[in-house]
Amino acid sequence: MFPTIEMQPDAIVMIDQRKLPAQEVYVHCTTANEVARAIKTLVIRGAPAIGVAAAMGLALGMRNSKALGTKQFAVEFNKLCELMAGTRPTAVNLFWAIERMKRAFSTGIRAGESVDELKARLKQESARIHDEDVASCRAMGRFGAEVVPDNARILTHCNAGALATAGYGTALGVIRAAAELGKVKGVFADETRPVLQGARLTAWELVRDRIPTTVITEGMAGPLMRDGQIDFIVVGADRIAANGDVANKIGTYTVAMMARAHGVPFYVAAPLSTIDLETPNGQAIPIEQRDPREVTHIGPTRLTPEGASVLNPAFDVTPHDLIAGIITERGICRAPFADSLRAVFS
Ligand code: MRU
Repeated sequence: MFPTIEMQPDAIVMIDQRKLPAQEVYVHCTTANEVARAIKTLVIRGAPAIGVAAAMGLALGMRNSKALGTKQFAVEFNKLCELMAGTRPTAVNLFWAIERMKRAFSTGIRAGESVDELKARLKQESARIHDEDVASCRAMGRFGAEVVPDNARILTHCNAGALATAGYGTALGVIRAAAELGKVKGVFADETRPVLQGARLTAWELVRDRIPTTVITEGMAGPLMRDGQIDFIVVGADRIAANGDVANKIGTYTVAMMARAHGVPFYVAAPLSTIDLETPNGQAIPIEQRDPREVTHIGPTRLTPEGASVLNPAFDVTPHDLIAGIITERGICRAPFADSLRAVFS
């Protein structure tokens, strides 16, 4: 499998997701600023991958530090944490990963480590976050595959694949694991306007894995469900509130409502790093508003008339009562989610 993100001796290397599938090119980030910019501009995207990139960006930035003492080093570290935290507001994995790096840093400080030892500790922690994410995706795949019906025609929205994680994927991890068991007849990938993560990225991953894939426009999901063409739906998440409400790519809510109307099971696959018990419900989740240009233009070509305003929230919230189960690396949480989500951490 291709690497989504890799820490090399002098750079963090990421596959440029803005260019897929037309071009397979890699971006080399040699500073924390470049990593922050890569997150902001969607070179790398998807909640778990954003967290991994931020952690690696912190390790890289601090490795470049010229600080002689730990006091100055700590000042620089806190500045970089703020830089990373300002990149994208919805994916809670970003803040989770920054917190992990802060904890590792504090442990090192408490142990009286030198600047060089702290640098090594931060690098090690970012590598751990990366490796744990792959392991979580594999575990989600195993749990999720059990609830996929035989011969399933599966719908997914956006890209919750290897590209959106450190590898294997959350929702696509479930699909991959089910396909390995011979349970998947085919996958419908919602194109996912306006950035087309479904049409460009999910389809690219699935075709590479030789899983039969059909790209559909957003509006087709409802009619396909009505016609009995979809047996199972699985999507990823950017943040799951304590009551089980799920923020995910804009369009997810509509898919979930259609699923309810037509009796299709709607599942969410997400690691514990996406569950935010501090946020009580979906209304409290900050929703990123993105550049209107994502809607008004395709490349250099304007699609909409000058003067028409644009709304471009990157995410919406699916209320917990539309969700059949939340697949995590520790098992599947079911209603009442306020209890099952709390329990999965213990
Ligand atoms: O704006 P994006 O492309 O970062 O949005 C990504 C999504 O909404 C994914 O579905 C989500 O992060 C889950 S990724 C495993």
